[in-house]
Amino acid sequence: MKTFDVQLGNRSYPIYIGGNLLAQSNLFLDHIPNESVFIISNEKVAPLYLEQVLDSCKRLNCEVKILPDGEQHKTISTIETIYSALLERHCSRDTTLIALGGGVVGDMAGFAAATYQRGINFIQVPTTLLAQVDSSVGGKTGVNHTLGKNMIGSFYQPQCVIADLNTLNTLDDRELSAGIAEIIKYGLIRDLEFFHWLEQNILKLVERDLEALAFAVHRSCENKAFIVAEDELEQSGKRALLNFGHTFGHAIETGMGYGNWLHGEAVAYGMLMAANLSIKQGWLNQQDYARIENLLLVANLPTQAPENMTADDFFCHMSVDKKVRDGKLYLVLLNKIGEAVLTSDFNTALLESTLQECCSA
Ligand code: NAD
Ligand code: GLY
Repeated sequence: MKTFDVQLGNRSYPIYIGGNLLAQSNLFLDHIPNESVFIISNEKVAPLYLEQVLDSCKRLNCEVKILPDGEQHKTISTIETIYSALLERHCSRDTTLIALGGGVVGDMAGFAAATYQRGINFIQVPTTLLAQVDSSVGGKTGVNHTLGKNMIGSFYQPQCVIADLNTLNTLDDRELSAGIAEIIKYGLIRDLEFFHWLEQNILKLVERDLEALAFAVHRSCENKAFIVAEDELEQSGKRALLNFGHTFGHAIETGMGYGNWLHGEAVAYGMLMAANLSIKQGWLNQQDYARIENLLLVANLPTQAPENMTADDFFCHMSVDKKVRDGKLYLVLLNKIGEAVLTSDFNTALLESTLQECCSA
């Protein structure tokens, strides 16, 4: 097992990464100060892993809430069902909430923990690759709105993250690829050495080589933890770099209907769109664009825009992005591979040209 901390002063917490961690009772018990535990999972993950978590917490009083599966359920009305279950079972402020599942469960459980009785402890137990490398770390929690992705939420850090690599054995190939998209993102925005490693080892990830997956999860979490420690609340612009590809990607997720394109797939193509604009700005070169595209292709990620979205659809959805400030849209673009920049100083005509080009390809 590998352990390291997200350094946030008195809110610092460990990330545990390794095999068979769900069975390690002490990892849970060390971070649960009282008897009351409330586990949130979903109808797909619970039959696979709930028993193991219940067993690890068997000395405690555990309640369970099973959510419907899918991004389309990441809504405020699902959160209300969590509040009702917490209240019906008389959970008080001393309850620790455990999120057992992918990013959808983690984001919602985290938001419920942040807001129930003004905040209760919670533990992230991410079971998808995407959640292990990204969403379980850093404290962003929330839900979607019909008008925009992740528009309602809060920053709220967990007590710890327990990333059991064995859970990835049951993940669909498509979901595994979606996680690889966020892994590639770290190489692109700030870790050139990791990007080189990915170029050599991407097939090993696709083929689920355990050693390669362990390295990639660890390296991704290190990158994320470093950025989060520097700019926890996304105020200085550093954390915003983690949203490389996301402004375009969120437009795809909202435009296509939540759940039709997976988050990681939308981010993958969003990264190519951002790279396309970076070339037009004269920053990124064509050869490096081809290297990014190749990595996505080998990882079975989309390299074409959704057929039925127009440039106008993109503009419309991008205008409600959280990176709009004082009416100005900020985008994360690439100076080069391994170096991203948050900027509003791009040429709007070039953005239009990127959207037209991508939508008609
Ligand atoms: P997800 O939670 O929908 O999980 C994908 C699918 O895999 C679901 O059907 C799920 O039930 C299933 N699943 C989960 N674990 C499994 C396992 N071990 N075996 C078999 N099936 C399993 O999607 P995701 O990709 O994990 O997360 C995407 C969400 O995360 C999006 O809502 C996105 O906005 C959010 N996100 C949040 C952050 C953040 O910082 N909070 C960062 C990135 C993404
Ligand atoms: N996934 C973006 C962030 O955590 O900031």
